[in-house]
Amino acid sequence: MSPKIYAAISGAGHYAPEKVLTNADLERMVDTSDEWIRTRTGIRERRIAAEGECTSDMGAEAARRALANAGLAAEDVEAVYVATCTPDMVFPSTACLIQAAIGAGRAYGYDLSAACSGFLMALDAAAAAIESGRIRTALVIGAEKLSTVTDWTSRDTCVLFGDGAGAVVLTASDRPGIRSNYLGVDGNQADILYIPAGGCKRPPSEETIRQHQHFIHMAGRETFKIAVNTMLGAAQEAIRRAGLQESDIDWMIFHQANWRIIDAVAKRLGDGSADRAIMNLDRYGNTSAASIPLALSEAVADGRIQSGHKVLMVAFGGGLTWGGTVVEWI
Ligand code: UT7
Repeated sequence: MSPKIYAAISGAGHYAPEKVLTNADLERMVDTSDEWIRTRTGIRERRIAAEGECTSDMGAEAARRALANAGLAAEDVEAVYVATCTPDMVFPSTACLIQAAIGAGRAYGYDLSAACSGFLMALDAAAAAIESGRIRTALVIGAEKLSTVTDWTSRDTCVLFGDGAGAVVLTASDRPGIRSNYLGVDGNQADILYIPAGGCKRPPSEETIRQHQHFIHMAGRETFKIAVNTMLGAAQEAIRRAGLQESDIDWMIFHQANWRIIDAVAKRLGDGSADRAIMNLDRYGNTSAASIPLALSEAVADGRIQSGHKVLMVAFGGGLTWGGTVVEWI
């Protein structure tokens, strides 16, 4: 019998646009305050893509950096998975554009739409392809230009979101790097976090534009409550499926939406402290599908995540969608 093939992350990279939009800048745009944004969300500033800088540009740069960190070339990549809810175009997919931009001539690829949980869903798809033996190397990218779907006149949402990208290289391994994956959706709650227009249900029209229907709409308080319970359940299930205890986890990376959500979930796992939770939402805000790989890549680059560490990643987002994954850093 041939030995079992596992999937492991062999490199991570991220890209954040240069332009910084601070809470003070937002105070000049809508009726809000730095104090409200910091205490209610934990966000101090976010990055905004330059005009003409697209999701594919950011994703391609994160992918190049992940490949460099993995010591691999674009020609080694056999599949490109892109999680995004802000693709450059309806089609071709952002994956096709990134495949061309980085020169991954041998790779197939596609986009995956699962809002803030997209990265973990894409990681699952890539891991399954590797574990089946069909491919040996994949790029998994989360990239978003949320500034284009943010209503800059609505204080309810415009203080929350930012642009950016994160990527990992997933390769075949003789040791299990992806230790578990638990994913879920609940389409019954689709309308608490969504973009109402732009699809075939409400195609773009003067009316949809006038009504700001091409922007993110969120029932914040409701989403908050569901997020805490769902993320806690996803975390516990992912740990259980990995055959581990909560105390075995070295680092926790939660989708960066709100520090109060992260704090509440982290404190209910294990020793009651949030010290193992990696946070960067103070600098980037909520970058949807990019948030987990961006935080992961930063924590690897600054040496917090090291070989042998067990990293729990937990996502929650529009759909509703959620996921929990335990990764062992090889
Ligand atoms: O990424 C996918 C998942 N997303 C999430 O998990 C996000 C979950 N939700 C949240 O993070 C929070 O609900 C928000 C940060 C969006 C809002 O915080 P909140 O503590 O739930 O505030 P709220 O919506 O209950 O609003 C409280 C008050 C309201 O005023 P009144 O009605 O009490 O007078 C709002 O109008 O805060 C007001 N408010 C603001 N005030 C200043 C709402 N946004 C702002 C603002 N600046 N930007």
